[in-house]
Amino acid sequence: MDRRHFLAAGAAATASTLLPAAAEAAASDALFQDVNFLSDGQALTPREYAALLDKAVQAGNFAPDYYSRGGAIEALEATFAARLGKQAAIFLPTGTLANQLAVRTLAGHNHRVLVQAESHLYNDSGDAAQALSGLTLLPLAPGRAAFTLDEAKEWAERTAGGRVESRIGVLSVESPVRRRQHEFVPFDELVRLSEWAKSQGIRRHLDGARLFNLPQHTGRSVNEYAALFDTVYVSLWKHFNGASGAILAGDARVIDGLYHARRQFGGGLPYAWPLVAGVEGFLHDYEAQYARAWEAADQVIATLEASGRFTARKLENGTSLFLLQARGIAPAALAERAQKHGVLLPRLPDEASEIPLQVNTSLLRKPPDAIARAFLGP
Ligand SMILES: Cc1ncc(COP(=O)(O)O)c(C=O)c1O
Repeated sequence: MDRRHFLAAGAAATASTLLPAAAEAAASDALFQDVNFLSDGQALTPREYAALLDKAVQAGNFAPDYYSRGGAIEALEATFAARLGKQAAIFLPTGTLANQLAVRTLAGHNHRVLVQAESHLYNDSGDAAQALSGLTLLPLAPGRAAFTLDEAKEWAERTAGGRVESRIGVLSVESPVRRRQHEFVPFDELVRLSEWAKSQGIRRHLDGARLFNLPQHTGRSVNEYAALFDTVYVSLWKHFNGASGAILAGDARVIDGLYHARRQFGGGLPYAWPLVAGVEGFLHDYEAQYARAWEAADQVIATLEASGRFTARKLENGTSLFLLQARGIAPAALAERAQKHGVLLPRLPDEASEIPLQVNTSLLRKPPDAIARAFLGP
């Protein structure tokens, strides 16, 4: 074997122990090398994405959808419904639309919706629930990840005591909470909220954009979470590296027929398959890969702290994020140094005292000591 082929074979062997199965097949010297501490997933480059897409469609039984129905989209919906323990699931082009269709469908004529003040639904949808679906969002627990059962009950009492009759139709919970540094809502609190809501005839929706990270941090399965809610949304582009997309899962009587509303909202994409053709490849062993990514992160943290130049801090109820304090180097200079070694960090202003770093499966692309060296420099 000549030197070039020997090196390539070595790189492939390393990659095969480090990369999720879908990426493994398409790995080459130039692709799938960067580690990023910036995003929920692998932040695939256009060439990496095209390589994975090519690989996915080469599977003998790959079939396109038409207007987001049938073929690969229907197969993906069935896979997620089974993984989440729900009767049915529907593909939607964005999580924003998944939340919107979920709460409007569940609410029916009961227009009030309990939400976290820090949720995507309340902050990042441009009042879509109010403007497009005539719902009234009641934002609870500003500045905190979770609201308690007592806070929910307080709003239920206020609603019941109004001069004009109105009802809370939906309890919507996001977990992990992106705006609270990906903190999770404690499982026991979810159980209390869910049981109370059910007893009151209030329907329950989970914004689980990042649901598949929770088992690693709470010991509760995605099924256990999903069982507490009527509908569950999971992002397809965050952990599973699609180009966009969301799954909304629930009972067949809620989900079946929802494709009409999807199209009504302009979300019936004529060909959705290129957005998600690689998703199943990342989904099937995601939880194991994410656990390995945290093992790698812990090794990196240990090496950095042993140097005496870095301190790491994890959050109570934290999931995918930790905070790093660097001594003797400004955050932007650190980011520049790391980038030269193929490790991407946020570029923060000099006065930032802690750098938020995201753990994702791109950490499996390099050995932990190589990642640590990118921080430590020559
Ligand atoms: C918690 C949460 N919910 C919903 C969304 C919306 O997803 P999309 O960007 O696919 O519309 C996001 C997106 O960042 C999110 O973080």
